[in-house]
Amino acid sequence: MNTDLKTIQDIILKAAAAAKEETASEPEPERPKKAKWPISCTVGPGLEGAIACESKVGYVNGAKGWLVYRGYDIFQLAAHSTYEEVAYLLIYGKMPRADELNIFKEKLFNYTRMNSVVRHLMTFPVERMSIMGALRLGVNLMRTEYSDLDMKTALPTSFDAISADEDTIDMETQPHVSKHATYEFKTKSRKSNQKSGREFDRTGGLETSAHLIAGLSCVAAAVSRIHKDMLPLEPKPALSHAANLIYMITGRIPTPIEERVMDISLILHADHGMNASTFATMVVASTLADMYFSIGAGISALSGPLHGGANEEVIRTLRKLASPQTVAPWVDKQLSQKGKISGFGHRVYKAYDPRARILGPLAALIIRQKPELQELYATAQELEKVAMSRFGSEKKIFPNVDFYSGLVYASLGFDDELFTPMFAASRVAGWSARVIEYMEHNRIFRPRGLYIGEFNKTYVPIEKRRHS
Ligand code: ACO
Repeated sequence: MNTDLKTIQDIILKAAAAAKEETASEPEPERPKKAKWPISCTVGPGLEGAIACESKVGYVNGAKGWLVYRGYDIFQLAAHSTYEEVAYLLIYGKMPRADELNIFKEKLFNYTRMNSVVRHLMTFPVERMSIMGALRLGVNLMRTEYSDLDMKTALPTSFDAISADEDTIDMETQPHVSKHATYEFKTKSRKSNQKSGREFDRTGGLETSAHLIAGLSCVAAAVSRIHKDMLPLEPKPALSHAANLIYMITGRIPTPIEERVMDISLILHADHGMNASTFATMVVASTLADMYFSIGAGISALSGPLHGGANEEVIRTLRKLASPQTVAPWVDKQLSQKGKISGFGHRVYKAYDPRARILGPLAALIIRQKPELQELYATAQELEKVAMSRFGSEKKIFPNVDFYSGLVYASLGFDDELFTPMFAASRVAGWSARVIEYMEHNRIFRPRGLYIGEFNKTYVPIEKRRHS
């Protein structure tokens, strides 16, 4: 390993040691056991606290700042692994042997050569679409061009009915209105979707995952070039997934440092528990809509500024602030108006986000070669310092993954509009892994709403209505 790559590894191992030391006083979690459904848990608005399913894909311990994929700590994976290996680990559930990894890499590369999808994309007004919007479209084109899924959905199917019509009852511990409205929790493990006539095909699911992992990168890169009046580029067989992604976006073969930083960023974004986009993906999959539709839902959910879209907000804020001197007054004004500071806070982490622990110093390293971004980085550092001092230790608000990822991407030469698509291009591995796992024992997601409206209103013909 050359010195520069060793420096990157050392940065990650140092971040791992700091994480361990700072959170050593946090209690160890109780080792998760297999759930005995139905289970009791306290649920807040936005389903906060709800346990939707069991999973072996990944684990987040917010108090300690732990992120684990299939039993492997994120610091270990970032220090030693590659995105291709991590994607394989997530979707297949085990580390690949060398031959398995080579076959998987070849598969990803072959799927990245999507000339017909890209040609089709160019017949749509993608120059006026955000890249996230174009990703949604690209996934649909991939679905049409590489699968006969619409043919299959034309077949008659009989779906498993939902066992209870919950919205007809008010929220009570023991529903009592009629037998029909009583919950009928299914506790026995069932073979998935037996009655539907459309059993989930695991082998097909793994293949589709590889297609989507390769395809999202390719579509994001192609559309970003179209946005700059440049032609999309084909990937190069000698390059890794990370290097090809940079090449297909910028047209430049990256340096080993740039390639490794991109690779690590992809690893860090690949999975993260039951976050909003993962849940959206799984909700759609649970209806037995296919994986392309499910991943489309994930892309949509990720685009929001409270989720993946936050990395673009961060860079906009930093550009607006422009120098460290403007940070403190801006933070004070923002907080006094109850405004949010993008790139801070997390529903789960009440410790420093392990991904930000890695991306922060990596941004510092790569920005050394980019004098034009150094003021922005200094502004980010000041923002972190001031925001943390204003939040205080009580609130446990820390920088999240989105705080430094934009600076990393900007250093690689990516435009702001690519930041969230890069998140999607990585997270597609986690989305896919979780869908494949959930399909083993699929049950349609169907929480209930609490009706707080009125009853017994009388219909008044339109001509007799008075507006209040
Ligand atoms: N800036 C200022 N105050 C904040 C921030 C922030 N970024 N995050 C949380 N707070 C404060 C809230 O104002 C609230 O204060 P209060 O108790 O005095 O009312 C308290 O902390 C709790 O905040 P909530 O928004 O209720 O926390 P929640 O768990 O619902 O939200 C979220 C988490 C949405 C990520 C939030 O922290 C936020 O909006 N952050 C900014 C957007 C962002 O960076 N999103 C990316 C998250 S990472 C990801 O999705 C990949």
